[in-house]
Amino acid sequence: MLQVKALPLAELRERTSEKWREYPADVLPLFVAETDFPLAPAVKNALQRAVDAGDTGYVAARNPLAESFAAFAQRRYGWSPDPTRMRTTADVSMGIVELLRCVTQPGERVVVTTPVYPPFYDLVAEAGAEVLRVPLRDTGTGWELDLDGIRAAFEDGATAILLCNPHNPTGTVHDRDALTALAELADEFGAAVISDEIHAPLAQPGTGFTPFLDAGDAARRVGYAVVSASKAFNLAGLKCAIMVTADDETTAVVRGLPVEVEWRTGQFGLLAAIAAFSEESDEWLDGLLRTLDENRVLLEDLLAAHLPGARYRIPDAGYLAWIDLSALDWGDNPARKILKDAKVALHFGPAFGAEGRGHVRLNFGTSPEILTEAIERIAALVGR
Ligand SMILES: Cc1ncc(COP(=O)(O)O)c(C=O)c1O
Repeated sequence: MLQVKALPLAELRERTSEKWREYPADVLPLFVAETDFPLAPAVKNALQRAVDAGDTGYVAARNPLAESFAAFAQRRYGWSPDPTRMRTTADVSMGIVELLRCVTQPGERVVVTTPVYPPFYDLVAEAGAEVLRVPLRDTGTGWELDLDGIRAAFEDGATAILLCNPHNPTGTVHDRDALTALAELADEFGAAVISDEIHAPLAQPGTGFTPFLDAGDAARRVGYAVVSASKAFNLAGLKCAIMVTADDETTAVVRGLPVEVEWRTGQFGLLAAIAAFSEESDEWLDGLLRTLDENRVLLEDLLAAHLPGARYRIPDAGYLAWIDLSALDWGDNPARKILKDAKVALHFGPAFGAEGRGHVRLNFGTSPEILTEAIERIAALVGR
C-alpha cells in the first residue's frame, strides 16, 4: 500500500507559498488550507513535462479535463456528470462569483450556512448580493443543514444558497437525504444552489459523500457544482476549477458566461488537474486519505492527552479541524494568544461567523511530528 508522508519541516520551509511565508520561521503554520505532502507523481510528471517543453501558453479550448473529471467522479463517487456540461475557470472562488452574478440580481440575498469558510461572505458581496446566515444545526454529535431555517430564508426572499459540500470548517459530509430535501426546497422557491465541492475528493471512505448534482431530479434542475483538484492535490496556486451543471437551463447559464472566464484557467492548473483526476493518481489519493485518517485520529488523542478542555469532532472529510477552545478562557479569538505565545498559526474562529467565537481551525494536512509539536506548544500555555 502506498504511503503518502508529509515532507520534513526543513524542506517545507524552502517553500515560498502563503503557508510558509506569512509568519517567521519560529511559527508552525497550521492555518491556510495548503498541505505539506509532496506532489502526486502523475501530477509532478505532467508539470515537469510542461516545464521541459516550455508548454506555458494559454489553456487549449479543446482539452481532456472534463472527461478526466467525469471518469474520476464515476470511479470515486459513482456519479456520471456529463463532460459537455462543464466549463473551467481560474479557481473555485471565481466560479462561485461568476455563477452568483448569473443567478442573483444586485442586492438579493444568498444563504450561507455558518460557521463557514470566511471568503464566502466576500464572494457573495463581490457578486453584488447580500449574505443571509442560516447556521448549521449542532446535533450534539455533528452538524447538519437547518432545512427549516433555509425554508424561512427562501420564504423571506433569498434567491440562492451557497452550499459547502463537504463543509469547511466542520468537515461535515451532508447526507444524501438532506441534499435532496434542500434541492426540493430550492426548486419550490425557484432558488439556485451553488455547491462548492472543493473538499469532495477528500471525503473519507464510508462517510457517504453525495455530489449535490447527484441528489435527485430537483438537484439537477437547481444546482451548479464547482469542483477542483486543488485541495486534495495541493494545487491552489496553479488556478483551475470546473463549473458543472446537469440540466439544459443551468447549462445555458454557464455557457452564457463570457469566454474570458474560461481563458483565466491556468495552463499548469489544467495539466495538473487532468493528471490528478486520472486513474493513475487513485492510489496516491487513497494513500493520502489513509494518512489524513491517521492524523484526524492522532489529533483527537493529542487533544485528549494534552488539552482536555478542547472540544473536537473528527471530520468526515478533508484536513481541517474545527476546535472549540471556549473552556480554556482564551477569549473570543484564541488563535491570537496561540500565535503570540505558542508560535502556532491557526485560523481565527470568529472569521467563520459568530458561531466561531472561542474556536480555532487547525490544518492537520501535515506530519505527525509537526501536529504533535503544535499541540504540545499550545498545551504548554494552559495555566500559564
Ligand atoms: C470551501 C472552500 N472553497 C473555496 C476555497 C478556495 O478555492 P480556490 O483557491 O479554488 O478559489 C477553499 C480554500 O480553502 C475552500 O476551503
